Amino acid sequence: MADDPAEQAQPAEFFDLAGTDRLMVAGGPQSGRTTFARTLITSLATRFRPDQAHLYVFERHPAGLSDYSRLPHCGGVFSPAEPDRIRRLVTWLDQEVHRRATTRSMSKAAPLPRIVVIIEGWEHFEDHSDPAFPALPTHAPLDELPGPETPQSPTWIPLGVGGPEHTTVGVDLIQGPHLLLLSGPHGSGRTTIAAELAHSLRRAGIGVLAIAPPRSPLPHLLPEDSGVRVLTGISLKDSELRDAAAAFGDGPYAVILDDADHITLLPTQQGFTDAPTLLDDIARLSARGHQALVLTADATPVLTGFPGPLARLINTIVATGNRILLTPAGRPTAVAHNITLEPDQYFTAPPGRGYLAAGRSPVLVQLATPQPGSVGRQGDTR
Ligand SMILES: Nc1ncnc2c1ncn2[C@@H]1O[C@H](COP(=O)(O)OP(=O)(O)OP(=O)(O)O)[C@@H](O)[C@H]1O
Ligand SMILES: [Mg+2]
Repeated sequence: MADDPAEQAQPAEFFDLAGTDRLMVAGGPQSGRTTFARTLITSLATRFRPDQAHLYVFERHPAGLSDYSRLPHCGGVFSPAEPDRIRRLVTWLDQEVHRRATTRSMSKAAPLPRIVVIIEGWEHFEDHSDPAFPALPTHAPLDELPGPETPQSPTWIPLGVGGPEHTTVGVDLIQGPHLLLLSGPHGSGRTTIAAELAHSLRRAGIGVLAIAPPRSPLPHLLPEDSGVRVLTGISLKDSELRDAAAAFGDGPYAVILDDADHITLLPTQQGFTDAPTLLDDIARLSARGHQALVLTADATPVLTGFPGPLARLINTIVATGNRILLTPAGRPTAVAHNITLEPDQYFTAPPGRGYLAAGRSPVLVQLATPQPGSVGRQGDTR
């Protein structure tokens, strides 16, 4: 009831569902806010049929409003314990509001039910002091990564920190997809993550054959152990690769090619045709479980049709393997790598930051750096 002292009247007050108003009921503890929410729900349910008004209730603390979920009008009573459910509702509400705004003028059909959202305890939803979204670190040393959330297979290797909870993100190149493209522009951290992978692969007992052009510092960043072989050059014979790989015998190994877009691999001649190279063999599905292939490149030109020596291989990996896209500056880069990003997901710094796309949705990751202590191997070709 409203008070109108001038008229000495107390007329009933209404909230018009056809209007555009939002209603805030403010007051301190025990001032009657929840009771008012109950009154509003009760009068809504008695005045409207379920096909005329739909009700959704958010409840910060259990205040007994969940009983209303049994009302035929009620699409749900939501609590903060169910963020996924809330997200689904908010996404749907957003789409529904847009849909109604665009179809309203055309529709001659029966009017749609009003949607009423009641938020009990708004101040808790509005609390900006919750430190819910800390920034990703710009540096994530391999030995300081937290352990994986759930136990992983022995051949799983960490890549960095990322995902919604900033957990350790990794891949299994032996038991999972065995091809990985590390793509990004100059200085984006490609060689660094190639080195990190070499360290992690060795810790998992997997052999490493590293191939790099002379400009690459990769050979100096590799772990110092006999399970690592290195070849340098811009033009290499397939037979050289096969000889180097023979050192691993039947054991699992990964070939890591730094700056793959600058390396030419010369196949062995078989009659009048080129025999498949070691890299072609490893790219086949049948190599999965035994061998893995990691390429670094600025793959955007190749993926958008610019010819390059390893173009076919790079395209195969984008179609079937894991991709890490470092510092993607814009949509053409993301599209070329078959990664779907929203307009607010592009950036150009810091180095070592990018999206891991293994499944369908890309995960933002700050890639790990190999430990400084283990860096510094000065030898080159072994
Ligand atoms: N994961 C990372 N975290 C923090 N800083 C990084 C990371 N990766 C690279 N950096 C920084 O970026 C610099 C360039 O890295 P890196 O040489 O790996 O890039 P690149 O893409 O291989 O560059 P190039 O175009 O020279 O081949 C490094 O010296 C380092 O300072
Ligand atoms: Mg490099």
